[in-house]
Amino acid sequence: MGASIDPALSGASAVFLVLTAPPRTAAAVVERLAAHVRRVVFLSSPHRTPHPFFQKPNPMAALHADIERRIAAAGLESTIIRPGMFASNSLAWWAPAIRVGEVVRWPYGAAESAPVDERDIAAVAARTLCQSGHVGGDYVLTGPESLTHAAQVEVIGDVLGRRIAFEEMTPDEFRSLWEGTVPSSAVEMLLAAWSAAVGQPAYITTAVADILGTAPRTFRQWAVEHAIAFTEGS
Ligand SMILES: NC(=O)c1ccc[n+]([C@@H]2O[C@H](COP(=O)([O-])OP(=O)(O)OC[C@H]3O[C@@H](n4cnc5c(N)ncnc54)[C@H](OP(=O)(O)O)[C@@H]3O)[C@@H](O)[C@H]2O)c1
Repeated sequence: MGASIDPALSGASAVFLVLTAPPRTAAAVVERLAAHVRRVVFLSSPHRTPHPFFQKPNPMAALHADIERRIAAAGLESTIIRPGMFASNSLAWWAPAIRVGEVVRWPYGAAESAPVDERDIAAVAARTLCQSGHVGGDYVLTGPESLTHAAQVEVIGDVLGRRIAFEEMTPDEFRSLWEGTVPSSAVEMLLAAWSAAVGQPAYITTAVADILGTAPRTFRQWAVEHAIAFTEGS
């Protein structure tokens, strides 16, 4: 791995790190980064946030915490960005049913989250990477409003100009549905977070607005700009 990453890092002063490689590569990745650059902006998650949604132990949180420790131990100047639920998750979750006019069946219809538009995450990453003043920054990024799963589906329906029926599915049905497609640890992570989030308004921060100087995009704006993905394609 070192052989392939070193040329890409040559001449770089700062790096935006999104770990997509297997967790066992984390130590080597941080070690190679530290050999070449002084600064890293790391895409983590809000695992330190004391809100029930984020407080269920899970392998992703453990991996992110491990990478953060390694970044600090390597002496890198860092900015940690911690988005909550991406708005784009709904493409994988609900677009297949919506495209073919089926009922959206999903667990924990009353679980609340504050979906954050991935373009706001990207803009914060770019800003904190390129502008001084963000070394040591630790930012939890959220959308501007708390919406239940059912309400998010309703927003998509409004944008498409039709009512989309929503039906609650049991956690066990959800496990069976995703078996073999998504690792069971990810499925359990989601179910635990959603179960803890029922009846709890989502955690919302002003970090996107504070850093960018513009309001975070709403879920409705996101849905308007992605409407075609709910009507066409696969
Ligand atoms: N989804 C969330 O709500 C959420 C919340 C907080 C934090 N995060 C973190 O955000 C990151 C992305 O999450 P996600 O849910 O968007 O994951 P995802 O749906 O699996 O998307 C990962 C993206 O990375 C790309 N990718 C994979 N391997 C790559 C490589 N070797 N080089 C370049 N690009 C590569 C994939 O491209 P292809 O599509 O071409 O495969 C895909 O676009 C993860 O670290 C996750 O832990 C996600």
